[in-house]
Amino acid sequence: MAEGSWYDADIERVIISEEQIRDKTEELAKQVSADHADTDGGLLLVCVLKGAVMFMADFARALGRHGSSSELEFMAVSSYGSGTASSGVVRILKDLDRDIAGRHVVIVEDIVDSGLTLSWLMKYLQSRSPASLEVVALLRKPDAIKVSVPVRYVGFDIPNEFVVGYGLDFSERYRELPYVGVLKPEVYARS
Ligand code: PRP
Repeated sequence: MAEGSWYDADIERVIISEEQIRDKTEELAKQVSADHADTDGGLLLVCVLKGAVMFMADFARALGRHGSSSELEFMAVSSYGSGTASSGVVRILKDLDRDIAGRHVVIVEDIVDSGLTLSWLMKYLQSRSPASLEVVALLRKPDAIKVSVPVRYVGFDIPNEFVVGYGLDFSERYRELPYVGVLKPEVYARS
């Protein structure tokens, strides 16, 4: 087996480094923890699979270090759309395992692109009567927004380019990259 990462040669440039992700996650967790210091019962984190799985794991651990306990829940949704563009029509592939009524819920997202998934998800979760509902998103593409969503905590605003890594995929690959980067055009051409 060759030494080194298999993926570096496929990446045109790194947009957010591993260190930047680590520092930002710590900063966001510190902020969320401070804002919820008086919250009873801890936070209920809702991870939207699959993209948010890396961020969820790191964010929950950072929250714990900053004094907030959390419970971890997972949802999987699929948006009907053509190619990479989502349509806003969302299908639930995996629902929550428990009641969130009266709980302080934080949706953990890897990226807000058009905002359509999150907009739908917020309405869906709001209808289940949480005590509060907020969003933390590691990445946001301001130029791609189609519907405005109240995202209280944002890590990085990034350009409207197709990015992979740290949970984000291209055809289910590149999720395990420790950084967020732009793929080389020849990688698209290959598939
Ligand atoms: C991505 C991402 C968000 C959504 C954002 O998920 O994880 O959930 O798209 O896009 P939007 O703001 O335009 O709605 P995707 O549907 O690619 O599934 P995945 O997380 O399993 O890769």
